[in-house]
Amino acid sequence: MPDDLRTLEAADPVVAAILAHESDRRARTIDLIASESEPSSPVLEALGSVLAAKTAEGYPGRRYHRGTEFADAMEQLAIDRAMALFGAGHANVQPSSGVNANLAVYRALLKPGETVLALQLAHGGHLSHGDPASITGAVYRFVHYGVRADTETIDLDQVRDLARAHRPHLIVTGGSSYPRAIDYAAFGAIAREVEARLLVDMAHVAGLVAAGELPSPVAHADAVTFTTYKTMLGPHGGVILSTADLARRIDRAIFPGTQGTPDFGRIAAKAVCFGFAAGEPFRGVQRAIRANAATLAAELARRGDRLVSGGTDNHLVLVDLRSRGLTGDVAEVALEAAGILTNRNVIPFDPGTPDRPSGLRLGTTSSAQRGMGAAEMVEIASLIDEVLRAPESAAALRPRAETMARRFP
Ligand SMILES: Cc1ncc(COP(=O)(O)O)c(C=O)c1O
Repeated sequence: MPDDLRTLEAADPVVAAILAHESDRRARTIDLIASESEPSSPVLEALGSVLAAKTAEGYPGRRYHRGTEFADAMEQLAIDRAMALFGAGHANVQPSSGVNANLAVYRALLKPGETVLALQLAHGGHLSHGDPASITGAVYRFVHYGVRADTETIDLDQVRDLARAHRPHLIVTGGSSYPRAIDYAAFGAIAREVEARLLVDMAHVAGLVAAGELPSPVAHADAVTFTTYKTMLGPHGGVILSTADLARRIDRAIFPGTQGTPDFGRIAAKAVCFGFAAGEPFRGVQRAIRANAATLAAELARRGDRLVSGGTDNHLVLVDLRSRGLTGDVAEVALEAAGILTNRNVIPFDPGTPDRPSGLRLGTTSSAQRGMGAAEMVEIASLIDEVLRAPESAAALRPRAETMARRFP
């Protein structure tokens, strides 16, 4: 390759310009999207490393291609670090995403048509937990439990009743918009009583679990899936943890079951992520994520907002916008105009639709990574309040959000 084409900027200025705009956009905005984090330089370096295009089907020591000694070393390192971090009997680090991780667990533990009991989407679950729009809902027979109307926390009596009535092969818990800690021991007991397996999808809260900020599901579940790019602060991707006796079934369900060659750049970045997660700086960020969510929740509640379940135990806050006479779609657009990124979300018993729901989901991962603390959460709550009081004038508040964002590069 000629020397002048060795850098991205020289080889493809169009792509380089889009990336520069994206960096600038991040620098100018306050990111409260609960499923995102800020990519760190070491993670990005590993992601875009020499391993990025290595091709090797199979697992360390059992490949279908040659020249894999360093790909093997990297994957084994990621596996060992993931197992040590969470105290798991087995780890598969190849899933390209959270949905792929869940698909592989279903493939490993179920036959098509078998019954699964999972948290319904509108009550905080996830599409890949049997929504009719997802292949998971087409292949398996999903029955859904929800939250109690009074507390908006998971209705364990309903879980037990449905488990006894339907005798599912698998019970699933965890979700994408559930702001409370989950009683994994209670789920484990229900699963054992009805002889079901238990899958915990901790996609959102894995970082908080790794840091000891939330209880771990690992001792209670047959399999645990998570994503590495939310509170784990790593690259986009998924992981499956399981008991040692399920190792072969889980591995075969990823390859050849549902994926082909793994992405070794991503696996290298996951290894970096797990290495970082074992240290004190990571625990400090996770403490800040949780403290910031608690402050943000308290400040919004003080200003009159109703929060689903009354508050939060983790990194996310779900605001019921009905008392403001707004829907989530209107709120997210207005807040973006003011430089604050959020997302519309259904809430339990929502009279709205996924496109026009009653809720707004906020998360504190990115802001805590950037070093924002309680004072900034108070200011952000005040900004959100002002935007939602007069959504049509939201853009006028943009300089305030931008000034704060630039103070935390
Ligand atoms: C609970 C849960 N499971 C699975 C996923 C899916 O992850 P991905 O989008 O990486 O496939 C998500 C993503 O938001 C999630 O919240």
